[in-house]
Amino acid sequence: MAFFRLAVFASLAAQLCMTPASAQVSHPSPDLTPAEAYAEGCGGCHTRERDVLNAIPRKAEAERRAWIERFMLSHPCEHDVLKPKIVEYLIAKTRR
Ligand code: HEC
Repeated sequence: MAFFRLAVFASLAAQLCMTPASAQVSHPSPDLTPAEAYAEGCGGCHTRERDVLNAIPRKAEAERRAWIERFMLSHPCEHDVLKPKIVEYLIAKTRR
């Protein structure tokens, strides 16, 4: 019987461990504002937004967009689905 109880305990423990782990996978809401999308996708690593904005060349909008999109192809983003919104955010923030 001891084995049976251990097996029950093990499966309960496994379920307890599984639940919070799967709940942690966050699915960002599609209604995030561009600023929230940036915070979700980039803000975890980048605490100084100014540094990110300063790295973007001071050029016309189409060129900035091309630069940002090319840069983001090889750069981490915590949520790929947010990329289009993040691009819009960075374009707007570097309009000067
Ligand atoms: C996993 C961590 C991580 C995430 C997520 C991340 N970055 Fe970065 N990023 C870095 C690191 C590390 C550097 C190099 C920083 C340095 O050398 O100062 C960097 C550099 C940059 C640079 C060059 C300017 C600089 O400070 O060197 C830009 C622009 C940039 N990131 C934009 C973004 C954007 C936009 C996002 C969101 C789509 C993003 N990053 C998400 C880690 C990250």
